[in-house]
This record gives sequence, structure tokens and C-alpha cells, in this order.
Amino acid sequence: MLRHKDLLGLQYTEPEEIQEILDGAEGCFDFLCGRDPKHREDLKGRTLVTLFYENSTRTRTSFELAGKYLGANEVNISTASSSVQKGESLIDTGKTLDSMKIDFIAIRHPMAGAPKLLADHVNASVINGGDGMHEHPTQALLDMFTLRRAKGKLEGLKVAILGDIKHSRVALSNTFGLTKMGASVSVYGPDTMMPAGLERLGARIARSREECLEGADAVMGLRIQLERMGGGLFPSLGEYAKFYGVNGDALKYAKPDAIILHPGPVNRGVELTPQVIDGESSLINRQVTGGLAVRMSVLKLLAEYRACSM
Ligand code: NCD
Repeated sequence: MLRHKDLLGLQYTEPEEIQEILDGAEGCFDFLCGRDPKHREDLKGRTLVTLFYENSTRTRTSFELAGKYLGANEVNISTASSSVQKGESLIDTGKTLDSMKIDFIAIRHPMAGAPKLLADHVNASVINGGDGMHEHPTQALLDMFTLRRAKGKLEGLKVAILGDIKHSRVALSNTFGLTKMGASVSVYGPDTMMPAGLERLGARIARSREECLEGADAVMGLRIQLERMGGGLFPSLGEYAKFYGVNGDALKYAKPDAIILHPGPVNRGVELTPQVIDGESSLINRQVTGGLAVRMSVLKLLAEYRACSM
């Protein structure tokens, strides 16, 4: 069983909990592929609210569908047309939602730490759908789920993450999650996009793209997070693609059966070439299905926690 009311980040999640979420997602994945139709009532009578203060296509839709497929009531709050625009604070918004007796809030917010602040003030279970440059736990869980399904394990695998490491919550959550599960993480990007101190969290900073990719079982490209940088961190998109992007030549350094991952949205031809995105090794679309399965699993496990502990 999970040990906390909320899922705020993989920094705070034990390996056994990660394992349980990934194992639970297997059954949900079968359900999504039409093989096991018995899950639909799991969250009957429960309510999930998605509260996104930042743009999102796949993460928000995925949370919404995960709730719906499990039989929950599901409400989406668009912050652009809510009382947030009238200056309501995050805590007051949370307390308002709590008074409506909801069970889960999936939140995305540009400020690191916002989900934790909300979680500390509400009875509902808060799931972090991405907070600034901090964490994006369900994305890393779906990456691990996709990788585990492709390779049959996580332990001992080498994952190469390339691109804008500094501004990426996906890179940070994956570093926490993958190293906890016994995989190694190697990162590479422009110096201006490398955060200080990532080694202390378990990642290895490669000195070149080739070194990063050498012997990798999985290669993850990351979007340049233009919305989180002041600009001027690399000369041009063309040069970025040439020196830091994932292309066929660079991939020769990875294992021949290496899989390609990307959290999306992808800038075609920048982080990955179109041939890599659409190639046989790319599991980018499968990641999206895995994301739905993982979010279903998280909701089910948090519901169990709530039933037993609250
Ligand atoms: C990621 C995010 O929002 O952090 N995307 C996602 O959740 N699918 C990565 C990104 O936006 O580049």
C-alpha cells in the first residue's frame, strides 16, 4: 500500500511503492487494450478534479480519462475561467474544492512546491502533474512502466537523457525514480542547460553526446523548455539539433535494441529527428497509453490508502 495521502514526487516515494504502482499499471494496461474489462467500478462514487495552471494536452487528458475509466466523477477546472483569475489563492481554491468533498486533485503549477502547499491544506489526495522545474512523478512512472515492459526489468539498465536537463521536471523525477529502481542515468546537454548538483542525486553527467549514449538501453529526448528560460542558452535551433539532438548517427553508440522515449510534446527535428521519432525503436506513442495505465494505478492505490488510513 502507498504510504502517503498524496503523490508529490518520486524523491519521497519508496522503491516498493514505485514497484506497486508499476505492477498495478499492468492490469490497467490490459484493461485499456481491451483484455480485462473488470476495473470500471473501482472509483465509483469518488471525484477527481484536474486543476491545471499550465498548458497540457496529454497529462490532463490522461488524468481525466484515468478517472473516467475507473468510474469516478471527473471535473476539470480551467484556471483561465475560474476564480483564480479573480485573485483567489491556491490554498483557498483547495479549501473550496475540499468543501465539495472531492477525493483527488491532480494539479499542474508553474511554481515548484505548489502541490505540496496544496496537499498540506486539503483533505483530498493531491497528485503532482508537474510543478515548475521540480518534479513530474507520473511522467517518470510512465517512462519506467514503458521501459520495464520493453526490457522486462529496470535493474541494471542504462538510460541516457539528452537535452534541457536543467529546466526539466521529467529529468529530475526520472533520476529519482530510475536510480531507486536500480537503473543508471546518464545525462547530457548544453552546459547552460545542466543543473548543478545532479550527480549528488545519482545521475552521471556525460562529457559528450557519444559518452552519454554509449551502451544505453533507452534514450530519452527532452523538449527545450523555452517557457522556463530567459533565452540565449544556445546559439540556434539548428546547432542545438546538430550537437545535442538524437539522430541516427548518434544512436549508433547506444545498444542496437535501445528504445527511444520522449515525454512529448516533441519539437520535430530539434530534440529528435523525424526518422528517430517515427522509427521502429520509438515507443513515444506507447508511452501515452502507459501514462493512462499508470495514472489509473495511482488513483486506485491512493483510493485504497484513503479507505484504510483516513
Ligand atoms: C512534460 C512536462 O509538462 O513537463 N510533458 C508532459 O507532461 N507530457 C515535458 C514537456 O513539456 O516538455
